[in-house]
Amino acid sequence: MTTWVDKDTCIACGACGATAPDVFDYDDEGLAFNKIDDNSNTAEIPDILFDDVRDAAEGCPTDSIKVEE
Ligand code: F3S
Repeated sequence: MTTWVDKDTCIACGACGATAPDVFDYDDEGLAFNKIDDNSNTAEIPDILFDDVRDAAEGCPTDSIKVEE
């Protein structure tokens, strides 16, 4: 699994970092990004974090969290 945040549609709601704090963080504007690979969608997410990432993606109000399984 890889994941990234589309910052063009993120509204900085803050939900993803609460749901998956080991994966998502926020930049100075409050926009989320994948802190594991600096939002480059290149690093495999550790298996133990899959559920957190899926929950974050489902909970994002703007569908800004992209997941590739
Ligand atoms: Fe942004 Fe969605 Fe997270 S709006 S802060 S990517 S839950």
